[in-house]
Amino acid sequence: MLSTSPSTVLVTGAAGYIGTTLLRRLLADGARVIALDSLERGHAEQMPREVPLIVGDVRDPDAVRQALRLFDRPPDACIHLAGLIQVGESTLFPQLYRDVNAVGTQVVADLCLEAGVPALVMASSAAVLRPLKGVGERLDEDAPVGPESPYGSSKLSGEYTLRAAADLGRMATVALRLFNVAGAAYGLAERHDPETHLIPLALRAAAGELPPLHVFGDDFPTPDGTCLRDYVHVRDVVEAFVRSARLAMQQAVSGEAEFQVLHVGTGHGRSVKEVIDACELVLGKPVPRQVHGRRPGDVAALVADPTRLATVLDIHPDADLHRMVRDAAETLGLLDA
Ligand code: UFG
Repeated sequence: MLSTSPSTVLVTGAAGYIGTTLLRRLLADGARVIALDSLERGHAEQMPREVPLIVGDVRDPDAVRQALRLFDRPPDACIHLAGLIQVGESTLFPQLYRDVNAVGTQVVADLCLEAGVPALVMASSAAVLRPLKGVGERLDEDAPVGPESPYGSSKLSGEYTLRAAADLGRMATVALRLFNVAGAAYGLAERHDPETHLIPLALRAAAGELPPLHVFGDDFPTPDGTCLRDYVHVRDVVEAFVRSARLAMQQAVSGEAEFQVLHVGTGHGRSVKEVIDACELVLGKPVPRQVHGRRPGDVAALVADPTRLATVLDIHPDADLHRMVRDAAETLGLLDA
């Protein structure tokens, strides 16, 4: 079913946590890759040297065109990861999120169409979904959308752009709704600047590198009162991007360009407290913490139904939270050799 891998790929947001991991995966496949990243939040030092990097913003058509022109002919696929990712920040700067995520995706889609790129895959988010009412439910791709944050709205807008692009019939598009990407692969540590993600914050608080962790709310309608999220290993996430690009290429070649949505999660909800317990077990140290009020934009539970991911891409994500935490701790240099 999924035979030919993309051999030429444009990756936007390539210097980020997922991007740098994806580049290693694509290079291991022998692909020729061009990277585009503004480096405002990315990590140039984690980029493989052999990948040409255009430093530019996805909202700037000249930067996107410059990256596309580095290929002799249109690349097989564009994997669009560039974007802002913080739910809380988006409530403070909604216009910025609309610009970077919605307008940026429009520019990338338009220029891929203009250049004749047959396949476009974007990093969307579970934040586009209407949150779960009951704990224990899982969200499949038919679940209603209903973002609760400007971040979620900006990603949903990107999805509509990809749908409209596929409707033109020349480019197949896929939106991967990522749940909580975690862990590490290829020895690359999860680092964001600033760091806002639970696992690296908890691990580094335990190691004394950061102040005590703030637990954002323990009064949610969940079994232990803290938020439930679906943590999925970054290794499975990059595999989903590569296989989605393959699928979209094949669709475009066979004249069946369409838009697809896939949920990338494990199907298991873990509470903030469970994550803290896993960090303590892996490090053998307590995670110093203080309970604070809820963070704006946070919802009680977001858990994927990964059935379609398995059916369409044959991906069965590793649900072992301890492995994700251990891989994260190891690459952050927090485990004794
Ligand atoms: N949390 C804390 N303290 C912290 C940081 C996080 O208690 O210092 C809690 C949050 O309230 C949340 C959970 O830990 O309940 C996970 O928070 P993260 O910031 O690690 O991740 P988010 O769930 O906010 O967001 C991530 C991605 C989004 C994506 C979402 C989908 O950043 O892009 O997962 O579930 F949309």
